[in-house]
Amino acid sequence: MAAPPPELRLGARRRPAIIEGMADLYEPYEKLIPIEVLGKRFEVPENNILLRQLQFVAPDVGTGGYCWNAECRYCEIKYEVEGRTMTGLACRVKAMPNFKVTKLAPELKYNISEALRNAPPVEPDKA
Ligand code: FES
Repeated sequence: MAAPPPELRLGARRRPAIIEGMADLYEPYEKLIPIEVLGKRFEVPENNILLRQLQFVAPDVGTGGYCWNAECRYCEIKYEVEGRTMTGLACRVKAMPNFKVTKLAPELKYNISEALRNAPPVEPDKA
């Protein structure tokens, strides 16, 4: 008798439905890119707005009070790109590799607080 496929074996784990459904939220991407948020390092899907990228590492972002269309400003950030400091909205900015977020609006900081606690710090030579 042949063994059942892996997904039907006793003890096999299914991914929670909420995780499976989240795949539809993202723009197509082929790889994760490194970004820095308040001194912590994250790997997020390329080709997505920063708010969605942060939702990738902190699903609580999906339950926040965000408008997702540049009206509420709950996603306001300060960030550095190529040595320049700028302000912007995480629902409008796409992070590129080595994008550095230096300040987050309180709502966003709250929603990613657990991910921030658990993420590794950026190594000094990669800062
Ligand atoms: S989510 Fe409302 S302004 Fe960005």
